[in-house]
Amino acid sequence: MTQVSYLIDGGARLHGAVPISGGKNAAMPCMAAALLTDAPCRITNVPMIGDVRLFGAILEDLGADVTVDPAANTLHLAAPGPLGDVPPDRLVANQRASFLVMGPLLARLGRAACSAPGGDGIGQRPLDVHLRGFAALGADIREVGGRYVASAPQLRGARVVLDYPSVLGTENLLLAAVLAAGHTTIVNAAAEPEIVCLASMLTAMGAQVHGAGTHTIEIDGVPALAGADHRLIPDRIETGTFAIAAAMTGGDLTLDGAQPRHLDALFSKLADIGVHIHEDEAAVRVAAADRLNASTIQAVPFPGLPTDLQALMTTLLTQADGVSVVHERVFESRLQYVGELRKLGARIHTAGSTAIVQGPTPLRGSTVRGLDIRAAAALVVAALAASGRTELRDAYHLDRGYECLDRKLRALGASIERIAPRESSA
Ligand code: EPU
Repeated sequence: MTQVSYLIDGGARLHGAVPISGGKNAAMPCMAAALLTDAPCRITNVPMIGDVRLFGAILEDLGADVTVDPAANTLHLAAPGPLGDVPPDRLVANQRASFLVMGPLLARLGRAACSAPGGDGIGQRPLDVHLRGFAALGADIREVGGRYVASAPQLRGARVVLDYPSVLGTENLLLAAVLAAGHTTIVNAAAEPEIVCLASMLTAMGAQVHGAGTHTIEIDGVPALAGADHRLIPDRIETGTFAIAAAMTGGDLTLDGAQPRHLDALFSKLADIGVHIHEDEAAVRVAAADRLNASTIQAVPFPGLPTDLQALMTTLLTQADGVSVVHERVFESRLQYVGELRKLGARIHTAGSTAIVQGPTPLRGSTVRGLDIRAAAALVVAALAASGRTELRDAYHLDRGYECLDRKLRALGASIERIAPRESSA
């Protein structure tokens, strides 16, 4: 893992227009969908980030052809076979989403095996939703030599009731059920926009999927799927990151290509706090207020406020007038960044998965560590509003999840420098 640091001199008010990239968490399930067909697929609006490169390397290792056109943000994928059924442990260890190859490989080959995937240290992140779902579709599931091994000569449609509306779990089951024999109903499905994006690619490939975006998804299995040409949705977490950066720095940003309906909970909360939001069809404008109101927020599944914006919202609330309360309801260990934020002067106490934020607090530059993608983004935003210089270490997480964050911020007036080769990835 290459050492990457960001040096940030705070104090600039961000202003201007920023193009929003395609969704990180939309990219990987759609790339996995290409394993379901021997026909070529083209995916556009793909962010050129470490997580996409890593997932592409996993697909290549399985035998797929992956051609990247970075200038056009486009991926060409083809998996005519023969395909391997075990993604490489050393890559799987670096990425939670790598487990997404299980559903399509199981459906297409009748077997798949994968070691426990790595990913951000934000909670336990079990796999029971995925594995119980595969079993409900008729797969035999075993743990052999440190790998989950699933096999089923032919998956059969079933009523699959999820204990929790897991995002990757829902995607994995959707990817498996589209080629299963008969009808599948996924009850208590995740409703995130990334699920809708995947379902729309699968539909373009010839799958029969209804109800994506609600908590009940109905699938009629088909014997084979064709290729597709699919455009990813904009990245809602990158959108939220820039919106919060505008509010935090006294700035005024136009978020080009943002989809406000994917972030109702964020924009409504920002408006409550006092931030000026103007939405139109192709962009959202976010302008800071002179004074921010304290608030209570809860990070919950869609359409609530995303857990991936919780650290950023907590950071913003350090500038609000009074005591704010933040409840993290999705991941049990997602407040660890608070210790780093305190080094910049934030006054925050935590109790379990709740943070109590005292504001407004002047922040001052310091040396801090990025613990995961969103924690690192929160520290960047805090540093932009802090007096003096901040050194953000372990900033490689940002390369995994944000397309050219430093360049985009510089174009908006920030003083931010990335110290490391651009080619590194997690
Ligand atoms: N859970 C289970 N059993 C499972 C799976 C999950 O109990 O089998 C629990 C988890 O422990 C957690 C909750 O369900 O408490 C939510 O986990 P979920 O499975 O929904 O998360 P995920 O699918 O692993 C995706 C995103 C995360 C995002 C979460 C929640 C991708 C690649 N990752 O993870 O994104 O935080 O959904 O919205 O899509 C990020 O982008 O920084 C990131 C962490």
